[in-house]
Amino acid sequence: MFEPKVYRARRQALKEKLGSGIALFPGNKEAPINYPANTYYFRQDSTFLYFFGLDSPNLFGLIDIDEDKEIIFGDDLSLEDIIWMGHQPRLIERARKVGVKQVKPLKELEPTIKGYLANGRTLHYLPPYRHDTLFEMAHLLEKPIEEVKAGVSKELIKATVSLRSVKEEVEVKEIESALNITREMYLTAMRMAKPGKTEWELVGAMEGIALSHGCRLSFPTILTINGQILHNHDHSNRLIKGKLLVIDAGVESAEHYAADITRTLPVGWKFSQKQRDIYEIVLKAQETAIKAIKPGIPYKNVHLEACRIMASGLKELGLMKGNIDEAVEKGAHALFFPHGLGHMLGLDVHDMEGLGEDYVGYNESVKRSEQFGLGYLRLARTLEPGFVLTVEPGIYFIPALIAQWKKEKKHFEFINYNRVMEYIDFGGIRIEDDVLVTEDGCRVLGRKIPKTVNEIESLKS
Ligand code: GLY
Repeated sequence: MFEPKVYRARRQALKEKLGSGIALFPGNKEAPINYPANTYYFRQDSTFLYFFGLDSPNLFGLIDIDEDKEIIFGDDLSLEDIIWMGHQPRLIERARKVGVKQVKPLKELEPTIKGYLANGRTLHYLPPYRHDTLFEMAHLLEKPIEEVKAGVSKELIKATVSLRSVKEEVEVKEIESALNITREMYLTAMRMAKPGKTEWELVGAMEGIALSHGCRLSFPTILTINGQILHNHDHSNRLIKGKLLVIDAGVESAEHYAADITRTLPVGWKFSQKQRDIYEIVLKAQETAIKAIKPGIPYKNVHLEACRIMASGLKELGLMKGNIDEAVEKGAHALFFPHGLGHMLGLDVHDMEGLGEDYVGYNESVKRSEQFGLGYLRLARTLEPGFVLTVEPGIYFIPALIAQWKKEKKHFEFINYNRVMEYIDFGGIRIEDDVLVTEDGCRVLGRKIPKTVNEIESLKS
């Protein structure tokens, strides 16, 4: 937990941005796996953590802007709870640690909200992404589910996004602490990447390191010799010499800030010429993109620059042809790079995605494209100091997509399909780092993880 003044300042900034009304922040509850008492590990709601900091279930935070009140609703443990879960400090003591002076038992939440609504007060709330929260909001607001969904507060979404997008120093430190543990996981897994090992062994070793630091993962690990499947969570393969292994993983820090890194390496650490050629193209795109990141630049432009670099490299290898600027403008490169260059990173690995990607990654001046590939950008808008984001270009040979485009003769003037077919079982390459946008550029966060061809080829078990 940060110091109380951190949470107080965040709530104060929110009050100033919203101006009036009541903002209600439901914390998360325990989520059952197969019966109510057997639960997944508890993960608090990120916005609740941001404004109220308390990392336990069954809490609601409320800010009454007009009356300048902040209240946490929750119950102290009963004797029965203490028998099973041990002693916990009282809610009022915990609330003081996040700068909140007033707590109320949960049974007072419903009459409090009903009282506000009866008096015609405006209640702001964010989009509920868990069903139990949605049901609870429907009960509190006495509205059908669809009306609860439709009634989310755009003002609160926008105010929350504007605050959470700009990371404070304490938040950047947390992300770096997550990155340094993530680095240890990568050094271990990359050294284990030899023929005969299984994907599961590497996944297990990585997660074990996270747990040994008391950390959980920020998302389920992607670790696969089928890296052409972008979010592949199957780990059932044995590593085969020469296959490319994509590892996309990260942990959450103690305060739940995410890391998100990707490395790709050949099993056995020796690139074939074909692999090295494509790897160097992706690396050049990533390094050039990082150099281009600074305040005032729309991330969409950085994305398109990375696309042009990759398309030019693919043209040199004979996989693409024609005018590269035109090819990228028309979206032909998306055959090889169908996703965006990156996303915001923070308390969520796709930071604030639950509040609506269009609020986080777009704004009035940068709207979502409808083009295949470009339409998948999670972050397109103009960068500002304090943003933390991922930079993760990739080149993939996705057999189903290639077959479909070839059949449709799509972008025939830019793609040399005969040559592409020579790479059909290539797999995929993605390289990802996390950067902080500074006043005049950006800083790659965390300590270095092997990335160049030489660094990877120098690895051993
Ligand atoms: N690193 C996984 C993702 O960005 O979706």
